[in-house]
Amino acid sequence: MPEQYSPFDAPFKRFGEWFEDAKKSEPDMANAVAVATATKSGVPSMRMVLMKNWGEDGFVFYTNFNSRKGQEILANPNFSMLFHWKSLMRQIRIEGIAETVSDAEAEAYHISRPRASRIGAWASRQSEAMQGRFEFEAEIARYTAKYAVGEVPRPPHWSGFRLKPKYFEFWSDRKFRLHERHTYRLTDHHQWGREILFP
Ligand SMILES: Cc1cc2nc3c(=O)[nH]c(=O)nc-3n(C[C@H](O)[C@H](O)[C@H](O)COP(=O)(O)O)c2cc1C
Repeated sequence: MPEQYSPFDAPFKRFGEWFEDAKKSEPDMANAVAVATATKSGVPSMRMVLMKNWGEDGFVFYTNFNSRKGQEILANPNFSMLFHWKSLMRQIRIEGIAETVSDAEAEAYHISRPRASRIGAWASRQSEAMQGRFEFEAEIARYTAKYAVGEVPRPPHWSGFRLKPKYFEFWSDRKFRLHERHTYRLTDHHQWGREILFP
């Protein structure tokens, strides 16, 4: 039986502590995270993204909603994230349900990005096949000209997904492969049930 553990913030607090450690010890991009999605029929796929925001309401990354991952999440909101910080010999698994961030939140992040990245969000038909790099460069030139004056608006297909966690696992390295695994699973009563797993 999982141990009932009421403080709602427990796994988030622990994530925050480990993430701060990672920011100090990783050479760069401590926020790089593998994202696993699946089609409606359960065929999985993974890729890296950058986690741009997090809190007790979840973990956010931004992408093209027409991309493979975007389409998979829109069809099947179950997805998971995996942080692995080699410098700390730690990993965190987070599983849950996707929610789309609000337009206001997506706008705020969009305008904080460099202009070239905002142009890129228009120019890249992410995950579609292209004839060659020239096709992408032509699209970049087209949108650079189109938005030469004024703001680059946010493309309607570019936004963020928030992973609303139902499950966390904190893994840390111990000598002789006697590693530690601590899990938190959200109960029906909005509490976190805690367990320790064999490594
Ligand atoms: C370290 C790293 C960070 C990345 N960050 C993002 C990101 O935040 N958003 C994104 O759409 N793609 C990001 N990518 C590219 C994705 O891994 C992937 O190639 C792209 O999103 C297309 O994936 P899909 O075809 O499965 O949708 C990143 C790649 C790496 C290696």
